[in-house]
Amino acid sequence: MIELRDLTPGDAPAVQRIYSGASVTFTRTHGMTAEEAADYVENALAHARTTPRERWCFAITVGDDVVGLVKFRNRGHRHAAASYILRENTWGNGYATEALKQAVGYAFTHAGIIRLSAKHHPDNPASGRVLIKAGFIRTGTVPTGPALGRPGVDFLVYEIRRRDNQT
Ligand SMILES: CC(C)(COP(=O)(O)OP(=O)(O)OC[C@H]1O[C@@H](n2cnc3c(N)ncnc32)[C@H](O)[C@@H]1OP(=O)(O)O)[C@@H](O)C(=O)NCCC(=O)NCCS
Repeated sequence: MIELRDLTPGDAPAVQRIYSGASVTFTRTHGMTAEEAADYVENALAHARTTPRERWCFAITVGDDVVGLVKFRNRGHRHAAASYILRENTWGNGYATEALKQAVGYAFTHAGIIRLSAKHHPDNPASGRVLIKAGFIRTGTVPTGPALGRPGVDFLVYEIRRRDNQT
């Protein structure tokens, strides 16, 4: 199955492959260039060195293959926002769900987070399915303005809270 690990400087080409094709439909206007991928990895490594830590970004691996990324960002009051992206040719294997479960466990046990939230575009039901399978619950919607050439819509919002015995 999958494992999570910290990003390394050599991951830029894999990150570029992840942020391409259908995987960027709801998040970017275009696939990442090699330069953007290098900047992305450099930025993630810089955040990993920051204290207090505000952002976490894990490579999702299947053996030696980096198939995706799962990340969360501290929004204050021990709340963090989670997101994930899988390379298009690896979809449908349960990887995002398993990666998100592992990231949630890490956030609650190693990062001082007690609540994680996430949101997705209404035309991206697979993302909502991942959240539900990982134990998130729907909490509502949030209006989001026009972006990436799409009209503004209500994104669906979810959250999961740390259990008392989960420390
Ligand atoms: C969303 C995404 C992360 C899912 O990754 P994945 O590894 O394929 O996810 P999983 O295999 O763990 O689970 C996907 C679930 O969505 C379901 N699904 C897929 N397409 C669907 C659709 N059009 N409608 C409803 N459910 C759908 C699958 O059937 C599966 O559910 P199941 O196990 O109950 O059958 C992946 O498609 C992706 O990277 N998309 C682009 C980036 C993105 O949208 N990130 C989220 C931003 S909010």
